[in-house]
Amino acid sequence: MDKKSIYILKKLYEEDFVSGENLAKELEISRMAVNKRIKSLQEMGFAIVSYKKKGYQLVDKDIIRVWEIEDFISKSELFKDFLYFPQIDSTNNYVKENQENLKSATVVYAERQNAGRGRLGRSWTDLEKGVKMSIFLRLEVIDIEKVVPLTLFTGLIVNRVLRKYKVQSFIKWSNDILLNGKKVCGILTELSGEIEGAGNVIIGIGLNVNAASLPDELLEIATTLKKEIGMDFDRTKIIIEILKEFENELENFKKYGFSHFRDEYKSYCINLGREIIINGEKKAFCKDIGQNGELICVQEGREIKIQTGEVTIRW
Ligand code: BTN
Repeated sequence: MDKKSIYILKKLYEEDFVSGENLAKELEISRMAVNKRIKSLQEMGFAIVSYKKKGYQLVDKDIIRVWEIEDFISKSELFKDFLYFPQIDSTNNYVKENQENLKSATVVYAERQNAGRGRLGRSWTDLEKGVKMSIFLRLEVIDIEKVVPLTLFTGLIVNRVLRKYKVQSFIKWSNDILLNGKKVCGILTELSGEIEGAGNVIIGIGLNVNAASLPDELLEIATTLKKEIGMDFDRTKIIIEILKEFENELENFKKYGFSHFRDEYKSYCINLGREIIINGEKKAFCKDIGQNGELICVQEGREIKIQTGEVTIRW
C-alpha cells in the first residue's frame, strides 16, 4: 500500500466521514486520484461507502492499522520492514519466494490467504479477521541449532501476549496454542538455505481472532478468541505486542537458549502429566520438557525424548 493510501485509510479510521475534496487538498492530488485510491482500497476489501454530501465512510473498523505497525517497525532495532497484503497464497510462501530481496527482519502480513499452510503438509484454513503473518530472519541473526527451540519460543511469546489479555490459553507441545482445549493459534517454522551455511528462517503465525464462526469440520478442534471470550480483539495491538515481546526476548533466547524460558513454557504446557499419542500410534506419558524444549515421556517403562512430530493428547 502506498503512503497516500495509508493516509486515506488512517483518516477514514479516525473520522466518521471524510470528504474527498479535503483528502485531495491535504494530499495535494486531484479528486480523480483520490477516487482511484478509494477504489483500490475497496478492492483490497476495506468496507468504504461513499455518500453524496458527507463523503466517504469506513463502515467496518476492524482493520489492521498499517500506520501503527509501520511506526513500531521504524523504532524497532530488530524489525526492518512490514509488508501488508490484502490477499496472498501464503505469507510463508511469499517469504520463501522473495527471501533474497527481503531485509532481516521483515514481517509479512496477509488479511486473507488462499493457500495457507500448516505443519506436516496440512493446510491452514483461512478465517476472516485473524492474524496471519510471517517473520523472516536471516540466520546470521540466530544460529541453526536454536531453530527448533525458536519455534517453541515463538509459541511461548504468543501465549504470553494472550495471557496479558487475560485469555486463559495453554501451549500444546510443540507450539499450538489452545483455548478451552481447542486450537486458536498454530506456528509453522521453515528453514531454507544450506545446512551449516547461511540460511533463513521463516516463522509463520496463524492466530484466530475475531471470526465469529468456523467451518463445521473445524468446530471440534479449533476456535477463535471471539468465540471463546465473546468479544472482539484489537488485532493491530496484538500484532504489535507479539512483535515487541519477540524482539525483547530474542536477545535472551540467543544468549541462553530455550532453557531461559523453560519454566514459563512448562507452566503453560498442557501435555505435562497427561497421556499422549505420538505420531498417531504410540501411547506415552508426558513427564517433562527438556532444556532444549524436547518432550520427555515414559513409554512402556522407558524414558523417551521427542524432538519433533505430532502428539495428540488423550484427555
Ligand atoms: C500449524 O499447522 O499449526 C501451523 C499453522 C501456521 C499458519 C500460518 S498463517 C501465516 C503463515 N503462512 C502460512 O501459510 N502458514 C503460516
